[in-house]
Amino acid sequence: MPNTVVVGAQWGDEGKGKVIDMLTERADVVVRFQGGNNAGHTVVVGETEFIMHLIPSGILHSGKLCIVGNGVVVDPSVLLEEIDMLRGKGIEVEPSNLGVSDQAHLIFPYHKALDKLKEAKVGPGKIGTTGRGIGPCYADKASRVGIRVADLLDDEIFRRKLRINIEEKNTLFTTLYQAPTFSFEEVHEAYVGYRERISPFVIHAPVVLNRAIAQGKSILFEGAQGTWLDIDHGTYPHVTSSNATAGGACVGSGIGPSQIDRVIGVVKAYTTRVGEGPFPTEFPAPLMELIRSKGKEFGATTGRPRRCGWFDAVLVKHAILVNGITEVAVTKLDVLDNSPRVKICTGYRLNGKLLEYPPSLIERWAQVEPVYEEHPGWLTDTTQVGCFEDLPPGARRYLKRLEELLKVKISIVSVGSKREQAFHV
Ligand code: GDP
Ligand code: IMO
Ligand code: MG
Repeated sequence: MPNTVVVGAQWGDEGKGKVIDMLTERADVVVRFQGGNNAGHTVVVGETEFIMHLIPSGILHSGKLCIVGNGVVVDPSVLLEEIDMLRGKGIEVEPSNLGVSDQAHLIFPYHKALDKLKEAKVGPGKIGTTGRGIGPCYADKASRVGIRVADLLDDEIFRRKLRINIEEKNTLFTTLYQAPTFSFEEVHEAYVGYRERISPFVIHAPVVLNRAIAQGKSILFEGAQGTWLDIDHGTYPHVTSSNATAGGACVGSGIGPSQIDRVIGVVKAYTTRVGEGPFPTEFPAPLMELIRSKGKEFGATTGRPRRCGWFDAVLVKHAILVNGITEVAVTKLDVLDNSPRVKICTGYRLNGKLLEYPPSLIERWAQVEPVYEEHPGWLTDTTQVGCFEDLPPGARRYLKRLEELLKVKISIVSVGSKREQAFHV
């Protein structure tokens, strides 16, 4: 299989985990390149549901090397819990099939505390983060005071850097937030414990990955979050703190753009979003409840109800552009099975004018009016369908219309959460 990047083309939770699981069969290495345990990627195998937050979803297939790349922010306690969870469900997780980049930044308890305190302080204008310390950890990375996995391995270096960071953060906690401080000794002791267990997995990912490519192995890059949560291309400031778009795959793993052969954008057959921020096609209340319960739209990480709305072709077209998406995977088509009518947003109007692309100013998003086209639904169960030709005509017409609008081929369709409920087109 060609080296493939998989990204979300909406606001996350598009079903990337499931698509990665499908594609891993034909890959040798699977890499996460950004984000942290703000992600929740679900794969259902038989009756068992797996939710991965840090480890690539490819781990469920034996014999595949999974890598947590340098672009990821790693909470070591979550990583270890995840390893234990997977082993508890009979999945092999050993240094032979899991590598953690020595250049990945570490999340500390003060990052989590800061994430929550910042959100509480801004009040109504908050982002609605997952509270996992993601933003503060990336902020330290950009400020060049972050602590990386490589630092953890050398106790003298680790102590020095941790002490400086804790002193600085404690000053912030006492002066700005009147919040409890952190003890250097306690944090150090906990992380020394993590070091014991994590060090066998530590690798220098760029070398491992480029060697694999040179040997003709194929790499699958697992995006987290989605294009509209990307720190540059998303609905800033209502975004996450990393590049969730395809370009992030290179910087977050240490391979060059010339090594990427294709980019798959994952979309739901409708749209969802968790947290605050604009959402032009958001459903009104009764429809929201219906689709939320049929689609089980509750966050895989925080359990928060996801906001739901119609498919927004404006958002996805722009995602295709900024990611260089070559193929689209459509998930959760089955969730629309009972809808008598389905709508697609084909344009945005602002002050009476049709926009060519979504606004950059967050303040303009609230004034955007979606332009819809409406289609009859298919009112037929699709959950047992195994190929495009067997879909009800209305569902086929819906997908064909999406292809027409997006000008990109739909290569995967998913009609249920289970592994077998999806097919290539
Ligand atoms: P990710 O973050 O992009 O990997 O997506 P999540 O795992 O957070 O959310 C997707 C949810 O939809 C999970 O609960 C999946 O099990 C579920 N899912 C994935 N594909 C389908 C599908 O085609 N139909 C239905 N009904 N559920 C799906
Ligand atoms: P996966 O990989 C959906 C959202 C949060 C919040 C914003 C910033 O499962 O698709 P953060 O904690 O990252 O600082 O929060 O981003 N968010 C996600 N929404 N799926 C995700 O990941 C998300 N990761 C972060 O809800 O609005
Ligand atoms: Mg998710």
